[in-house]
Amino acid sequence: MADPTSFLFLLSMTLLLQQSYPFSFANAEILNVTTDKSALFELKAHISSKDSHHVLISNWSSNTHICTWVGVTCGSKHLRVKALNLSYMDLIGTIPSSLLKCTQLQYLDMWNNNFTGRLSPEIGNLTMLTYLYLAQNKFEGAIPSQIGNLQKLELFAADINYLSGPIPYEIFNISTLQKISMVSNNLSGHLPSSTGSLFVPNIQILTLGDNELSGRIPNSILNASQLIMLDLSHNSFSGSIPEAIGNLRFLEVLNLVSNKLTISFSELRSLFSSLSSCKHLRFLSLSKNHLNDVLPNSVGNLSTSLQRLHLYYCNIKGNIPEEIGNLSSLIDLSLHHNELGGPVPTTIGRLHMLQGLVLYGNRLKGSIPYTLCHLGILDTLNLGGNELYGNIPACIDNMTSLRTLDLGFNQLTSSIPLRLWRLTDLLLVDLSSNSLNGPLPLDIGNLNVLRALDLSKNQITGRIPVTIGGLKNIVNLSLAVNRLDGSIPTSAGELVSLEVLDLSYNNLYGEIPKSLEKLSNLKHLNLSFNKLQGEIPSRGQFVHFPATSFMSNNGLCGEAQMQVPPCKGKKAIGLQILKYVSITVGLVVLGMCLVFFSIKRRKRNAKLSHDTNSMPLATWRRISHQELIRATEGFSANNLLGEGSFGFVYKGTLLEGTTVAIKVLNLQVEGAFKSFHIECEVLRNIRHRNLVKIITACCNMDFKALVLEYMPNGNLDMWLYSENRCLNMLQRLSIMIDVARAIEYLHLGYATPIIHCDLKPTNVLLDEDMVGHVADFGIAKLLGDGVSLTQTMTLATIGYMAPGIVSTRGDVYSYGILLMETFTRKKPTDDMFTGDMSLKCLVQESLALSVLEVVDTNLLSNQNDYPAMEECLLSTMGLALHCCADSSEQRIGIENVLATLDKIKLKFLKDITGH
Ligand SMILES: *[C@@H]1O[C@H](CO)[C@@H](O)[C@H](O)[C@H]1NC(C)=O
Ligand SMILES: *[C@@H]1O[C@H](CO)[C@@H](O)[C@H](O)[C@H]1NC(C)=O
Ligand SMILES: *[C@@H]1O[C@H](CO)[C@@H](O)[C@H](O)[C@H]1NC(C)=O
Ligand SMILES: *[C@@H]1O[C@H](CO)[C@@H](O)[C@H](O)[C@H]1NC(C)=O
Ligand SMILES: *[C@@H]1O[C@H](CO)[C@@H](O)[C@H](O)[C@H]1NC(C)=O
Ligand SMILES: *[C@@H]1O[C@H](CO)[C@@H](O)[C@H](O)[C@H]1NC(C)=O
Ligand SMILES: *[C@@H]1O[C@H](CO)[C@@H](O)[C@H](O)[C@H]1NC(C)=O
Repeated sequence: MADPTSFLFLLSMTLLLQQSYPFSFANAEILNVTTDKSALFELKAHISSKDSHHVLISNWSSNTHICTWVGVTCGSKHLRVKALNLSYMDLIGTIPSSLLKCTQLQYLDMWNNNFTGRLSPEIGNLTMLTYLYLAQNKFEGAIPSQIGNLQKLELFAADINYLSGPIPYEIFNISTLQKISMVSNNLSGHLPSSTGSLFVPNIQILTLGDNELSGRIPNSILNASQLIMLDLSHNSFSGSIPEAIGNLRFLEVLNLVSNKLTISFSELRSLFSSLSSCKHLRFLSLSKNHLNDVLPNSVGNLSTSLQRLHLYYCNIKGNIPEEIGNLSSLIDLSLHHNELGGPVPTTIGRLHMLQGLVLYGNRLKGSIPYTLCHLGILDTLNLGGNELYGNIPACIDNMTSLRTLDLGFNQLTSSIPLRLWRLTDLLLVDLSSNSLNGPLPLDIGNLNVLRALDLSKNQITGRIPVTIGGLKNIVNLSLAVNRLDGSIPTSAGELVSLEVLDLSYNNLYGEIPKSLEKLSNLKHLNLSFNKLQGEIPSRGQFVHFPATSFMSNNGLCGEAQMQVPPCKGKKAIGLQILKYVSITVGLVVLGMCLVFFSIKRRKRNAKLSHDTNSMPLATWRRISHQELIRATEGFSANNLLGEGSFGFVYKGTLLEGTTVAIKVLNLQVEGAFKSFHIECEVLRNIRHRNLVKIITACCNMDFKALVLEYMPNGNLDMWLYSENRCLNMLQRLSIMIDVARAIEYLHLGYATPIIHCDLKPTNVLLDEDMVGHVADFGIAKLLGDGVSLTQTMTLATIGYMAPGIVSTRGDVYSYGILLMETFTRKKPTDDMFTGDMSLKCLVQESLALSVLEVVDTNLLSNQNDYPAMEECLLSTMGLALHCCADSSEQRIGIENVLATLDKIKLKFLKDITGH
């Protein structure tokens, strides 16, 4: 083609124009740069933008030359508009016909704006146009036939508009056209069928997908010998396909998906043979047409360049030909939704480039061939909805690129191979509706990008692994209709992305964890048909869930609209439960507050103790006795941190270098360790900044140890009674606030309140920042279902212990004593407290006189703002006494203790700093 900017070319064009249309313009206007300018001004007047400061509005100004305007390019000789590029400018408006006065326009690019209106028939005046790009606007109406005047046009793109009516045949008569794309409009009618000059020889790309075109695919298309891409998808083309289509030797893409083509077996066989001449064929889709017969073996003769073969929804019958394994470049094989039977050909394992294998919804039989494990870069494996049986191949972990795995709705019978959970890139897993069995492994929590997991309708047993909380991106989780038991792990509350959770039809028991209230995205919850108990949480998204989410559980209670009985007060419930539960409260030696529930006649509990014996700490990092021996240098005395009623505490270093405290429980009390597993199960779920973290536990027949977070600053007792260290007022307040936070969490942060039972200074540990961490809460017991236990024996450490029953208010009492001790530096167990005299009485009396009389003298020498200190101590000791009220009803809840102490600390800070 002549260089459009060359002088001769321009000259000849000008002459030609003047000769052909000497008087064609109104008033015989001579067109020059001035007329171009006024044309563009008129265009500007027809344009608006969401953005009133749009660059075009300020840039296209009358006092600058149009050739400097944004989007405008002028020809170097004639200085008239040669190219107008307004693509991606966020413009709204219409194109005025005056633009057509820019007769030197060669490139017009309006791509991706919101231009509306019809295309003017006078578009045919722009005879210099070689490039007309109107895609992604809102143009409507017909494509004018005058477009045929644009005999230099090389590209016409009008995808994604509202153009309608037939495609003017004239466009196919422009011999220069290389690309026509009109995807996603409302074009209708037929393609020109007479041969001749139609379908010009230079066209390379013809994409007319997603319109309303009908009729046959004309033989005239065979004239387009340069065709590389033919996309007639999503139209209503009928009949067959010109068999000689293979004459289009350069064809790379043939996309005919979703038409009304009817291709017989013999036609299809000829078609494949013909297409085998197209050596560059990359993409072939005949999907969503009527093939209605078996797939000819000649499918294997298609080009070895073929990357994508789509023949889904075609009513194909018979087997998948083994020859499919010849298509060595295949990336994507989609044969889903047909009536294919027989086995999955093992030859598919040869397709090393395969990334997607989608055979969903056929009648394939046999087992999943192990050869599929050769597909090392497979991204999507979808064999769902067939009649496959046998195992999921254990070698599945070889498909390290797998993102989508759908084997649902088959007859698979194995357990889920453990190695499957090593595929940590998985996004979607559907193994539902098979007969898969066995438990779920802990490794499930490794799939931290997984978005959907459907294991419903299988025979999966065991518990829901606590590691499930690792599925941070999961949106949709269904384990419904299996044989899962155990409780719903609290860690389910960590599934922050979760929208759908279905655990219905299992044997889950225990309470619905409160932590689920935190799942702010949860829209659908189904816990029905289990054996869950206790209160239905009522906060968070639970306000939206219907009664059906919880139906058919035996022990749930809650609000009336949930169609469950109301949760009675703690005592009432306690009595009710006592009807069929006998509670034995066992004594544990020296400061341990172990309570054993032996619940008779309750099958689920029989099961619980059974299960906890079989897989107790499976969810933790396992640690062996040997490793602990190594960690503590053989439990050497050098590493001994302390000795308690329960045994010894050692400092140790684990293999990975973490320093830990190891609490070796060497009690030989009969029965004490029957509950060890249960304890650990409880403790594992408890996490709070002010609780000493339990890292793991070691549990053999004759050796039990807890591995705890190491606290470098010892305990509060050491600090209070040390000769050479002293905590100031603020530090003591802060530590006691930390303790209150921990207790609040134990009492209120968990599905069932946890009672510490043994709050005392040695159980308040201090980290390197002097933050308080409460320890030994493991010795506390769950107070299930609000059961109040009648205390029948001595519990906890004398002096800190509340009179009466074990309850959360008992902890508040101990907290009050601890508060007194922290500021007075007097132990309740001190010899001075005998008879009627107790620490509590001492504090009570001092309040009437002067609180400074009773306070730790170290504080007095340490602090000089006595008025502020006195006021602070008065409030603090007042609070302590409130905690230690004789009757538990008069004691305040820990949450109020915390709030009050927070205020006291703030007031004190304000007083001593003056602001
Ligand atoms: C453009 O043509 C008009 C007449 O149509 C004339 O008045 C004007 O001077 C011309 N401008 C230039 C820059 O040639
Ligand atoms: C218009 O935009 C062009 C290209 O960005 C720039 O060179 C020119 O200076 C601008 N003119 C005005 C008046 O802003
Ligand atoms: C118009 O501009 C866009 C973005 O700057 C560019 O991609 C496109 O090729 C241009 N069009 C023409 C015809 O040069
Ligand atoms: C387009 O050309 C026709 C003659 O072929 C003329 O009548 C008409 O005015 C031209 N339109 C514009 C907008 O220049
Ligand atoms: C066009 O308008 C639609 C709303 O009809 C809007 O969503 C879209 O962002 C607009 N596109 C442009 C490029 O302005
Ligand atoms: C196509 O062009 C040929 C001449 O090259 C002409 O005979 C024929 O009528 C044109 N067809 C259409 C539909 O414009
Ligand atoms: C695992 O995949 C590689 C290719 O990624 C393959 O060579 C190897 O044979 C496969 N192993 C198995 C057990 O299928």
